[in-house]
Amino acid sequence: MISPFYNTICPADVYLKEKKEMTDKEKDEKFFGRGNPAMELEVIKAEGSYIYGADGKKYVDFLGGAGVGNLGWGVQEIEDAIRNKERPSYVYPNFRYKPWTELAELLAELTPNHLVKSYRMTGGSEAVEAALEMATMYTGRKKIVSIEGSYHGNTMGALSIGASKKQKPFPNLLQGCEKIELPLNEEKLKHLEELLSSNHVAAVIMEPVIINLGVIIPEKEFMSGLNRICKATGTLLIMDEAITGFGRTGKMFASEHFDIQPDILCMAKAITAGHAGMGAVITSEEIDKKVGGKIGLYSSYGWHPVAVDASLAALHFLQENRERLFENIRQLEETFKKGISGVEFAESPEVRIIGAAIGIDLKDEDYASEVKEKALQNGLLINTEGSSLLFLPNFQMSAETAVEGIELLKTCV
Ligand SMILES: Cc1ncc(COP(=O)(O)O)c(C=O)c1O
Repeated sequence: MISPFYNTICPADVYLKEKKEMTDKEKDEKFFGRGNPAMELEVIKAEGSYIYGADGKKYVDFLGGAGVGNLGWGVQEIEDAIRNKERPSYVYPNFRYKPWTELAELLAELTPNHLVKSYRMTGGSEAVEAALEMATMYTGRKKIVSIEGSYHGNTMGALSIGASKKQKPFPNLLQGCEKIELPLNEEKLKHLEELLSSNHVAAVIMEPVIINLGVIIPEKEFMSGLNRICKATGTLLIMDEAITGFGRTGKMFASEHFDIQPDILCMAKAITAGHAGMGAVITSEEIDKKVGGKIGLYSSYGWHPVAVDASLAALHFLQENRERLFENIRQLEETFKKGISGVEFAESPEVRIIGAAIGIDLKDEDYASEVKEKALQNGLLINTEGSSLLFLPNFQMSAETAVEGIELLKTCV
């Protein structure tokens, strides 16, 4: 047989012996494909605001599964809904299934008023693809405008509208994709007005608060200007709320911070609070009338029954505890603002906080990576986006845990 270890023919018993002698880490490196190298943390348990490693260490979790874990880990109500329920093991997408209707109705209730029609997706990238398909079909136009450096997922369409430098090895599927550079100011609005007045642009897509660029909070004037230009030119406005949705910025959806009317809104991540893979894209009746049934929105595993039960439980929990959770987000915002001001970074950083989305721009990518690495060693899990540290704590995190994490951060800078 062919050994996966050497490109030579080797007897089965030699292959099996080599495999047996490999450590778990070596096996991970050998057999498990990853976009990024694995961190030195093997997870065995996640509970509340803490992650537990196979090394016996307990880590304060400011990473929150990159925005997935908005309610903290192991929420009993969601665990129960998954485990203690009878359901079909699978439902073919063209059948009717009551929990699908229930979830779609709930999403229409939670999202801005005019958005009513939800489509089933397995995650954020798929939701973004569907949104782009909808916009190009609805408008009959081919160009898309996005924010330079942004991230909208790993599929080819999503990569094409994302950061130019990350899409380099691939063909840009959307040949007409134009990128708007930060900062988002008056000058960029003028540029957008020129671009969109050509009537070739199907949609502008962005995160309403750009968490993937280290929590960039656009000016209200920029967003209402963008909305005005889109409406005047028949260009659709797509808000990718894969991370910002379901409370992350202190509102149910970050679009609500602005005077805008998104035509399509993408959801993922916290839609199940981390208990199953799921995404959704929601649009207006008017748009749906023109695109519904015409584009390939079939997804074999879109809204699998287990994921739907997890999502219904997570969203009901969010709804029922809304006041308490949103009050805690406000308090966390204050705790982080105060705590971070007491951290002695190498140079004074730019701190951007909105709700439970916290970006600390250290203006130095290497330094940010060093802090992240040291934090891991010292028992604190954080993320980075370029030169910014990114914290996405869950909405049930206590002030004590937030302070515990900030104290650990002090030992890493
Ligand atoms: C804004 C945004 N859009 C889309 C995606 C892709 O989502 P998924 O990883 O579920 O495909 C992400 C993931 O980080 C995201 O942050």
